[in-house]
Amino acid sequence: MTKMMRLKKDVKEKRELVNIVIDRFLPRKDEYPKVLHKAMRHTLFAGGKRVRPYLTITTYQLFGHMDKKILPLAAALELLHTYTLIHDDLPDLDDDEKRRGKPSSHIEFGENIALLTGDALLLEAFKMMLMVDADADFKAKLIKEFAEVSGSEGLIGGQVADIECEHKDFTADEIDFIHLNKTAKMLTTSVRYGAMLANAREDDIKRVTEYGNLIGLMFQIVDDILDIEGDVHKLGKKTGTDIRGGKATYPKLYGMKKTKEIVNDLKTRAKDIIGYYGPKAEYLQKICEYITTRRF
Ligand code: IPE
Ligand code: IPE
Ligand code: MG
Ligand code: MG
Ligand code: MG
Repeated sequence: MTKMMRLKKDVKEKRELVNIVIDRFLPRKDEYPKVLHKAMRHTLFAGGKRVRPYLTITTYQLFGHMDKKILPLAAALELLHTYTLIHDDLPDLDDDEKRRGKPSSHIEFGENIALLTGDALLLEAFKMMLMVDADADFKAKLIKEFAEVSGSEGLIGGQVADIECEHKDFTADEIDFIHLNKTAKMLTTSVRYGAMLANAREDDIKRVTEYGNLIGLMFQIVDDILDIEGDVHKLGKKTGTDIRGGKATYPKLYGMKKTKEIVNDLKTRAKDIIGYYGPKAEYLQKICEYITTRRF
């Protein structure tokens, strides 16, 4: 098996573990009010790479061993991420009709239900964090970071800046603010959580934080590239939406050639940092390749 095949197998196995935890945690789809519980599962189980939980579990393993204790923390990130996708697709935001190969939540259930489904998933994410088997002080620390990276000085701030820059000229600092906040911070937190729950040392947490920042930025730049070069069927969402929406993207500012050079540079730096751990970090090295060559 090649390294990439081993990585893909590992991604699939961990995705299944996360799916089981989410499935057991969420209210059944026939629970009243049915439409809400059905809608929560509609987008969650439509597919999705589960990149954020993968990063959490794999970083946890790097500093410890595989233990089910990490799963609720990893799953909480996916609940939060899925809420952001549902809201991101709403007509008042990106107005996208497809997500994860299925109709977006508001297309299937209406805008009112989609809005509330997103809210519900956001709150379920916090409930899920409370299930982590750790002492109260430590859990408070995890939840504080969660609120910060997803709030107005994190993901939501990034989404607002993304809206403010629509159909406008924007600077390198502005696009970096958007990408860092709307996407990268949550990926950084994903790796940090793995290290934190495994009781990693401060210098290790610092190292994975730097790695997370690099792959987080890289992840959103690749998303920008795929909106231009991706295949709708593989991607599971529409392409060309950034151009139609007048979005601030890396290709718009730098052109495609330079954007790809930036991605390569970020990848080299990320692999370099995580390379410190040698073969133990094989999957975290290889995921850089996976992120940059992904077709969906
Ligand atoms: C899409 O995220 C939105 C971004 C932050 C770029 P993913 O590419 O992780 O989407 P799923 O979870 O696999 O559907
Ligand atoms: C999404 O950025 C960021 C969040 C959902 C927080 P995009 O708007 O580029 O994501 P896609 O392309 O719709 O998945
Ligand atoms: Mg968006
Ligand atoms: Mg979008
Ligand atoms: Mg996009």
